[in-house]
Amino acid sequence: MVYLYLLATLLFVFGIKKLTSVKTCQKGNRLSEIGMLVAVVATALIETNIGWPVVLAGLLVGAGVGATIAKRTPTTQMPELVAALNGFGGLSSALVAMGSLLIDPVLKDPSKALGDTTLINAISTPATILIGMVTLTGSFVAYFKLSGKKLSHPLAGMQRHYLHAGLALAAIGCAAWMVITSNHTAMTFAVILLALVAAVLGVFLVMPIGGADMPVVVSLLNSYSGIAGAAAGFVIQNPLLIVVGALVGTSGLILTQIMCKAMNRSLGNVLLGGMGEETVAKDAKDYKNIKSAGAEEVAMLLDGAGSVVFVPGYGLAVAQAQHVVRELADLLQKRGCNVRYAIHPVAGRMPGHMNVLLAESDVPYDQLWEMDRINGDFKNTDVVIVVGANDVVNPAARLPTGPIAGMPILDVDQARTVVVIKRSLAPGYAGIKNPLFEAENTLMVFLDAKEALEAMVKEVKELK
Ligand code: TAP
Repeated sequence: MVYLYLLATLLFVFGIKKLTSVKTCQKGNRLSEIGMLVAVVATALIETNIGWPVVLAGLLVGAGVGATIAKRTPTTQMPELVAALNGFGGLSSALVAMGSLLIDPVLKDPSKALGDTTLINAISTPATILIGMVTLTGSFVAYFKLSGKKLSHPLAGMQRHYLHAGLALAAIGCAAWMVITSNHTAMTFAVILLALVAAVLGVFLVMPIGGADMPVVVSLLNSYSGIAGAAAGFVIQNPLLIVVGALVGTSGLILTQIMCKAMNRSLGNVLLGGMGEETVAKDAKDYKNIKSAGAEEVAMLLDGAGSVVFVPGYGLAVAQAQHVVRELADLLQKRGCNVRYAIHPVAGRMPGHMNVLLAESDVPYDQLWEMDRINGDFKNTDVVIVVGANDVVNPAARLPTGPIAGMPILDVDQARTVVVIKRSLAPGYAGIKNPLFEAENTLMVFLDAKEALEAMVKEVKELK
């Protein structure tokens, strides 16, 4: 039976490997799903005391709830869904650790403390509760922030860090008390207190983080949920849970680093919290020399264009314009134009957001160009069409200071002409002015992305 654990582990490892490429990611998901099924069945076969009715009920209810939520969630709300799922992962690990205390044979003896069990148990049980509860509440704060709720930290500056350090020390104190006391009522009290302090710490740690740092926070919390799972694996001595938790923990950490690099934030800053407060710059709507254009003018430009690059951003997701952008791209390709899509790693609101959207409309993979690959080519591009993107094309990132200073961007301003489709001059997620909109070679199309692209399709069809 233990070979089934090995099989599940291999399926997870290869599943994650396949998730690293757009071409193979769907296969990666399938492999991981099969891995999870094998893991559940193997656990039921090995831990025979669970009983099949409970396993089947868990499978049916879990799969039913998961499938319903996933089907009902639009792609624009995927980050919230991921945040919530991370939170539930943390909670379940914490509950496993708390439940294990009730059935621990050593603790049935009223004179014994958790410290009298194994060293691994004495460390992993409080660690699971601590990390699991921080993940739970931190993830739900991230969930509410991503859904647009304003949640700000009551303290600022050093006071905030003192509060966090105080709570962390209190949590460590509760954990130590829980391990050394042999009075089981006191232990129960310490467990509840530890869970509460960790929950409050999770809220305060994520509260001050906002704006451009949010993707990093979500993937970091994903990593925490994996670490909590691995720690829970030590508590119940389940090797599969340890391995899978470690896989989630490390892959989440690698994704966090990739995100940090893409947004030019250091992991240290994110771990400490307090960066990227949500603010809208005073001059965010202050523009001079804006040139606006309609679909007809853009069609004339496209008529003479040999190369066109589409830059999708969050607005493409909001407008659900992924099918019409493909329609326009196909039309241009038929006219002999070289068409590509430039993908910024943090465009949209979740890692891979643009890839997911464009995959929905079956955009050929070879037309999707990642930032590093396409950046040198913008100077040879006739027309760039920015569809609902803002921060990822904001040249202000090249300045030495500012909320997105140093963030790598798509160098669209180097193209011959840039067409920006968005509804207004409103700022993007980082809340700052975008000098691209007033550049000499930029034309603004102030419309909903879907509406604008539909009008462009109509106009291009009418071109001779
Ligand atoms: P943003 O900078 O957020 O800009 C999106 C723009 O889309 C807005 O300026 C908005 O302008 C426009 N828009 C909204 N609805 C539209 C519609 N129906 N039609 C046309 N335009 C519409 O997006 P981005 O360039 O993709 O950058 C992503 C930002 O989100 C970055 O700052 C990133 O750090 C952050 N972030 C990323 C992630 C991940 S992992 N991808 C997660 C969280 C946050 P109007 O209102 O004027 O139309």
